[in-house]
Amino acid sequence: MDDLTTIRNEALSAVEKAPDLGALDAVRVAALGKKGSVTGLMKTLGTLAPEQRKEFGARVNQLKGEIEAALEARKSMLGASALAARLANEKVDVTLPARPEGHGTLHPIGQVMDELAAIFGEMGFTWAEGPDIEDDWHNFTALNIPPDHPARQMQDTFYLPPRADGTPMVLRTHTSPVQARTMLDKGVQEMLAEGGSLRVIVPGRTFRIDNDATHTPMFHQVEGLVIDRTTHMGHLKGCLYDFCRAYFEVDELPIRFRPSYFPFTEPSAEVDIGCSWKDGELRIGAGDSWLEILGCGMVHPRAIANCGLDPAVYQGFAFGMGIDRIAMLKYGIPDLRSFFDSDLRWLRHYGFSALEGVR
Ligand code: PHE
Repeated sequence: MDDLTTIRNEALSAVEKAPDLGALDAVRVAALGKKGSVTGLMKTLGTLAPEQRKEFGARVNQLKGEIEAALEARKSMLGASALAARLANEKVDVTLPARPEGHGTLHPIGQVMDELAAIFGEMGFTWAEGPDIEDDWHNFTALNIPPDHPARQMQDTFYLPPRADGTPMVLRTHTSPVQARTMLDKGVQEMLAEGGSLRVIVPGRTFRIDNDATHTPMFHQVEGLVIDRTTHMGHLKGCLYDFCRAYFEVDELPIRFRPSYFPFTEPSAEVDIGCSWKDGELRIGAGDSWLEILGCGMVHPRAIANCGLDPAVYQGFAFGMGIDRIAMLKYGIPDLRSFFDSDLRWLRHYGFSALEGVR
């Protein structure tokens, strides 16, 4: 056996044994590459006598062709089986169950806002909003709380630097400034002038300097406002009776109105709902105890006048309620601060599924 036969046998058997395309390329380089065995044979041609050179050169060329053909054949075979293997591996198994996906939950505040919108929506109220950063006039003065009025001290206000034009600014301490903004609205005034009735709820963020288990510096309120020519205290009571019974889902829920004071309503009242405590657990419904849930009253004629409406023509009622508070009461959530901790375990426990209501 001469060199050529040895090289041929080795190269062809290496081609046959190459397990994958990478190994096959290594075989090609070892035979036909710059320093490959066949290339090495080519280089010896120059050392041979002319007639030998011709014959040997032809044999080397033939060998080269033979190896190239073998490489090509093996390559297409390996390529086909690599594709077949991939197809087999990547096959979708439609019998597998779907991988569980992480579902988010609705925060109790958002859930309660949706409930408010649904209940008051049925009574003909629409949803209004106003800015969190409010000027002193809308937050206080328009609502019959003039500068230096002691009622300003009732609300632990976050004061902000005044605007460039000197307007004093605050983080709104309640949603009531949106009462003023709504009554001042030109479209609303036109609608009222045509004999229409204004009914809005205003859910939103409010701010006071306060921090304990039942108070946080940021919290949520919902304001209600009804203005027309005939709405009276009886309507206020009926509206809040219906709301409380629908929201707390207790048909015979006892409700009482206690006289109170707000500068922007006259008369004013606070509303309590019946409850009882058993083994430290709160039950909402007929019982021996009361829980305060909101403030309300007939809109003060001076607040109506401050907002550009004639109090001799227009009247109505307003109420304000802590959303966080009624969420805690309905869903048994003990600590208000936990509402704003963004703790996923808390959110999974107290959150709501978007599709199924209560989890
Ligand atoms: N704005 C009052 C508060 O935050 C609540 C209220 C609103 C009272 C509307 C009467 C009418 O305490």
